[in-house]
Amino acid sequence: MTSLNKNALHGRSFLSIADVSPAELTSILTTARAQKKRKFPNSLRGKSLALLFEKPSLRTKVSFSVAIAQLGGHSVYLGQNEVGLGQRESIADVARTLSRYVQGIVARVFAHQSLIELAEHAKVPVINALSDVEHPCQALADFLTIQEHKKTIRGLRIAYVGDGNNIAASLAQGAVMLGADFVIASPKRYELPGSIVRTAHGFTKTGGSFSKANTPEDAVRGADVVYTDVWTSMGDEPSKQRTSAFKGYQVTSKLMALAKKDAIFMHDLPAHRGEEVVDEVIDGPQSVVFDQAENRLHAQRALLHLVLGTR
Ligand code: NVA
Repeated sequence: MTSLNKNALHGRSFLSIADVSPAELTSILTTARAQKKRKFPNSLRGKSLALLFEKPSLRTKVSFSVAIAQLGGHSVYLGQNEVGLGQRESIADVARTLSRYVQGIVARVFAHQSLIELAEHAKVPVINALSDVEHPCQALADFLTIQEHKKTIRGLRIAYVGDGNNIAASLAQGAVMLGADFVIASPKRYELPGSIVRTAHGFTKTGGSFSKANTPEDAVRGADVVYTDVWTSMGDEPSKQRTSAFKGYQVTSKLMALAKKDAIFMHDLPAHRGEEVVDEVIDGPQSVVFDQAENRLHAQRALLHLVLGTR
């Protein structure tokens, strides 16, 4: 296990996957793999965390609550209608108040800017449990899952088909950091933000690469990993126009057949079956979606241990 004495992640917020260096990202994954095999340290004993959620959650809420308990800590869940972040009370005041009670804040927000403000005014680390821009904790679980199925991430072709959303943003940057070749196919107007693309390109020194494909077929051809996510995320306006833009972006068995024979299919869940993916693929032998879901627990436990664990 990574020595906490030399642990540079201690006390730091985690709002973006790019908030950590490639070496730190690797150390989170190494710690997660080690902790998954043995007994968990009691490193959050006597510590409390707030789980501040503006949007619904299944995996994130349960996996964080369980991970905190497994490390001997305690969590207080604040749901969608409780705090009124920035409405009932200013974000700065919520951050200042929570900092008097808890040692860390895990927050799921509509606007990424809310996380930035929380972190600015909190005296304790803030962890991004999903925003409109990134979902870095999902990416940690995804990389852990890829390592388990493919041994290594370096040199793999990771194809993402669909919306250039929060999931795609964290995955793209992290994949390049870990030396993978990340390729994305998104419809026009639903592409990754330029700032994310620039950050991903900035990590190519590690040997990874970022590229855009013109079609889902071009992205998936020869891929080791095929990843997709919903076409309409929480907070997006559902519309006919939106759905029709994604025509041809469904992951079907025919599309999967273009990937390597031993390619894995990934999805962060919840899935809109029959939209971005068909049952045959998500329920098929290549699908690792429930390994991903399980690994949320292991990846986040490692993160919490490194960020907040008692030395
Ligand atoms: N892109 C999805 C991810 C859900 C875990 C959303 O933001 O709704």
